[in-house]
Amino acid sequence: MRLPIVVKISVFALAVMGVYTYYANSIPQIQSKPPEELSLEGGNVTQEQLIKAGEEIFKGKGTCEVCHRIGQAGARAPDLAGMGARAVKRKPGLSAKAYLIESLLDPGVYLVEGYPNIMPKVDKPPIALNRSELWAVTAFLESLGGTVDVALDDIPKSAGAGAAGGGAQVAELKLPGDPKAGQAVFTGKGACVACHKAGSIGASPVGPDLSQIARIQTPDYIMAKILDPAAMGTVAGFPPKVMPQTIGQTLTAKEYVDLVSFLLTLKGSSATPAPQGKK
Ligand code: HEC
Ligand code: HEC
Repeated sequence: MRLPIVVKISVFALAVMGVYTYYANSIPQIQSKPPEELSLEGGNVTQEQLIKAGEEIFKGKGTCEVCHRIGQAGARAPDLAGMGARAVKRKPGLSAKAYLIESLLDPGVYLVEGYPNIMPKVDKPPIALNRSELWAVTAFLESLGGTVDVALDDIPKSAGAGAAGGGAQVAELKLPGDPKAGQAVFTGKGACVACHKAGSIGASPVGPDLSQIARIQTPDYIMAKILDPAAMGTVAGFPPKVMPQTIGQTLTAKEYVDLVSFLLTLKGSSATPAPQGKK
């Protein structure tokens, strides 16, 4: 029996679609984690490899270097040189690793003197490190003048839970704003450009470079900083009360949402963290 050509084609099409559907369904299992994600669970890793992995996360995915420098004060955060040795003295009764883990998961609990509470919880978006990555970073921090003794089991099982699948693939905040219109507010009515650089826009060093702000800060912080800059503390290395305190009153709701949408596009690049501040 000869099948009409149309039927043959649709059988073929269904077969192709079936294969693709099967394949597509299998992708989430294969790739439920972003490719760059480090997993050391159950694997054998030498201490040297662990520290090396931690250093790479510090400079790359962790975005730590955008705020922290080692052997050099950054504009936003403390110099972490000697951190492994200092950690054990920070909070009486807390071991070095316990202090370091707390610093990563709940930075606001202990604030280094002279710095505001602006470090994001690094197991939550936008940084969203998983447990393996937290383990490696802690080992790296301990290696800065201290003894590396952190085990994967020292990282709480709940860490990284806020990031579904353990990675940065969490639903991003979707604002109804228009980033293009927000850019116009940034350079126009908001006058942000008078004090801030944002990627290729502007060059003023009066306020912090915002080129990577969406990689290192939560939308909550960015929104609150515009509405009430002083309440969010003063970014270290910059003068207090210079950022206008009344922006929230002068922008319309649309301008504000557009502006925030624009700021949330500022993700810079991991290869070139903006070095700031004095040596
Ligand atoms: C948005 C800027 C920012 C980012 C990003 C950031 N930090 Fe911080 N960090 C700070 C600030 C500010 C402080 C000081 C205030 C405090 O203690 O929370 C701090 C404090 C710390 C401390 C305590 C330092 C001490 O002397 O006790 C450690 C450890 C630390 N950060 C590690 C990291 C690591 C590791 C990363 C990356 C995974 C990171 N930070 C990302 C801003 C940042
Ligand atoms: C007259 C200068 C000035 C203007 C205009 C200004 N800022 Fe700022 N801004 C600063 C300074 C200085 C700081 C750092 C000190 C502080 O935290 O208050 C800052 C801090 C910030 C931060 C926190 C950065 C970080 O690294 O944590 C954000 C976000 C920000 N400004 C956004 C804006 C936006 C958006 C506008 C426009 C609506 C704006 N600023 C207008 C001076 C300014």
